[in-house]
Amino acid sequence: MKQAMIKPAEYARRRENLLQMIGPGSVVLLQAASEKTRNSDVLYPYRQDSDFLYMSGFSEPKAVLVLVAGASGNRSLLFCRPADPDRAIWDGPRAGLEGALADFGMDESFDIAELDKRLPALMEAAEKVYYKVGSEPEFDRQIMRWMHQLHDTKDAHIPQELVSLEHDLHELRLFKSKAEVKAMRKAAKVAAKAHIEAMKAAPTATNEAELQAELFMVFYRNHCPWSYQPIVGAGDNGCVLHYIDNNMSIKQGDLILIDAGCECEGYASDITRTFPANGHFSAEQKALYELVLKSQLAAIEEIRPGKQWLDAHRVVVDIITAGLVELGLLEGELDELIDAEAYKEFYMHKTGHWLGLDVHDVGDYTIDGESRQLEPGMVLTVEPGLYIAPDCELVEPRWRGIGIRIEDDVLVTREGCEVLSKDAPKSVKEIEALMQGK
Ligand code: GLY
Ligand code: MN
Ligand code: MN
Repeated sequence: MKQAMIKPAEYARRRENLLQMIGPGSVVLLQAASEKTRNSDVLYPYRQDSDFLYMSGFSEPKAVLVLVAGASGNRSLLFCRPADPDRAIWDGPRAGLEGALADFGMDESFDIAELDKRLPALMEAAEKVYYKVGSEPEFDRQIMRWMHQLHDTKDAHIPQELVSLEHDLHELRLFKSKAEVKAMRKAAKVAAKAHIEAMKAAPTATNEAELQAELFMVFYRNHCPWSYQPIVGAGDNGCVLHYIDNNMSIKQGDLILIDAGCECEGYASDITRTFPANGHFSAEQKALYELVLKSQLAAIEEIRPGKQWLDAHRVVVDIITAGLVELGLLEGELDELIDAEAYKEFYMHKTGHWLGLDVHDVGDYTIDGESRQLEPGMVLTVEPGLYIAPDCELVEPRWRGIGIRIEDDVLVTREGCEVLSKDAPKSVKEIEALMQGK
């Protein structure tokens, strides 16, 4: 089997870091994601809960991770399904209780069937129980049942507090280690290659589905499943922000917007490129594309330690608004248009988000009401766009139905930033050359 990029020692370090943050006298409970039925006996592809994955590296369902920060040291316990030779015939092998110790660095492992029997005693030893309060109704109820059990037991110690786990855990997840960056670099590299293959296939493709197939071919050949359902929008569909049907005809003269990324060891890439179906930008497409690109390059310049998360968005808003005035899509005084958020008719989302185990990754964006300062190890997307609705009466018909977004994945470094997705071409010249086979 291929060596994992994130080693068991790193998972152990994460557990230690979390327990250091929350202090002794605490117990942490994390539940694996449950399997979801798609239809009849068919399940959706299983994806582990990102918090659970971050703390354990364990990708099976029906498991609960228990971290105990006790006076005499910290312990990691995994409740999971035992190995079962009969089930292995149908579903393949499980890590089992032995694997939990040997491969996942747990101090103890137990059959998940023993959860009810053992959990109240583990909670009894703690003053604070940390878990994702309110996120899974059945787990909330289960924890309350264990609390009731303790109340009903003579002389039992009752934990004083049930505390929401997310804030501390998500603060850890926001800062990526070297190994996490390596995984994200690979996810970005593979996704960039997928975008290149889709661009090359576009001139002879007749339907969006064919380009989605090109993306999946690259993802799965590289053992990187998709990190979210891709958007492959030709023509007007490029203006639908969450378009995922990806099954319409591609017409001569269409722009095609592809927003697609994949996962490496659970870490996502999230890349958007927009290109002309036939390999030649029309005058209007080019004018708007160059404007979005100008704003994106300027926004990437804003990504460095000490800058605020919102600075990139502010720069994009300034450049996009000025550009729209210059091209005649907006009329008025620049400052007044920015204050009135006139650009929102054509640019209605923010310029990016944290990226990691989740595509829209965890972590606070503001601290004490102020936009958060960027620090080394954070990864975020930079993704301005322009979407001129096909029925927009505010602009001349020649601009209508043009949807453009350019999205890169950017790591904040000590010196500035690194664009992880830089392999995906984005200048007009590069895109046209690639698509025309030059
Ligand atoms: N692909 C989701 C996003 O760009 O936010
Ligand atoms: Mn994004
Ligand atoms: Mn995206």
